[in-house]
Amino acid sequence: MEIIIQKNPAAAAEIAARIVARLLRKKPNAVLGLATGATPLLLYKMLAEMNLDWRRVATFNLDEYVGLPPEHPQSYHQFMWENFFRRVNVAKKNVHIPDGMARDVPKFCSQYEKEIRAAGGIDLQVLGIGGDGHVGFNEPASSLASRTRIKTLTRRTRRDNARFFSGEDEVPRHCITMGIGTIMEARQCLLLAFGHRKARAVAGAVEGPVTAMNPASILQMHPAVKVCLDEPAAARLKRARYYRWVYANKPDWQK
Ligand code: GLP
Repeated sequence: MEIIIQKNPAAAAEIAARIVARLLRKKPNAVLGLATGATPLLLYKMLAEMNLDWRRVATFNLDEYVGLPPEHPQSYHQFMWENFFRRVNVAKKNVHIPDGMARDVPKFCSQYEKEIRAAGGIDLQVLGIGGDGHVGFNEPASSLASRTRIKTLTRRTRRDNARFFSGEDEVPRHCITMGIGTIMEARQCLLLAFGHRKARAVAGAVEGPVTAMNPASILQMHPAVKVCLDEPAAARLKRARYYRWVYANKPDWQK
C-alpha cells in the first residue's frame, strides 16, 4: 500500500486526479471502477476540468440502492450523471451502474460481473470508505471473496447516508454492490478518505489485521493500492511519519 497524506482534501484529490489522468492518457480505453459519496466529489470535479478524452473509457460503478429508479434524485445513477458524467464526453453505452430496479437480482448481478470481464476487467478502482470500513456497500462481516450481490445496509450506514435523503426512514434497506472479490480483481485501487470521521476505519484498514470486520483491510492483500488521505483521516495512523517520509523520498523514476 502506498499511503499519501496531504494537508487537505483538495491536495489529496489532486494527486488522485493525476493518477487517473495518467492512466487515461496511457490507455484511452481504460476501464474505471467508480464510487459515490461525498469523498470522490472533488476528484470528479478536477477530472472534469482536465482536458481528458472519455469517449472510449468504460466505467463500472460500485453500487446502487435497491428500489430506486435511475431518475430518483438520491439514486447513484443520478449522483454520477449530475456530479460527473454530464461534465465529460463519456459515451452513455460505456457507463455501467447496478440496476436498483432489476427484477431478477441474482441474474443481474452475475451479468454485471460478466460485463466487467467482457470489458477486460477494471484497470483502476476508485474507492471511498465508510466509517465502519465498508467499501462499496460491503458492510462489516461481508465475505472477503464476495461477488456482486444484494446486501442489507447496516443501521449506521443508513444513518450516515440519511443526510442525502429527507430522513433515515427514506434510505433504502438494500443495495446491489460489487463484492470484495470483485474489487480485489481491479488492477489498481485508489482509496480516498477525508476527515476525522474516517480516521478509525482508515487506521484499521491500513495498519490493523485483515478482517471482514473492516472490509477495506483486505486491500492489504492487493498488490497495487494507493491511499490518498487528508491530515484528519490519517490522524490515527501509527506510522504516519514513515509514510510521509516514503512519499517525500521517492526515487526520481517513481515520482
Ligand atoms: C457509501 C458508498 C461508499 C462510500 C461511503 C462513504 O456507503 N456506498 O461507496 O465510500 O458511503 O461515503 P462518503 O464519501 O460520503 O463518506
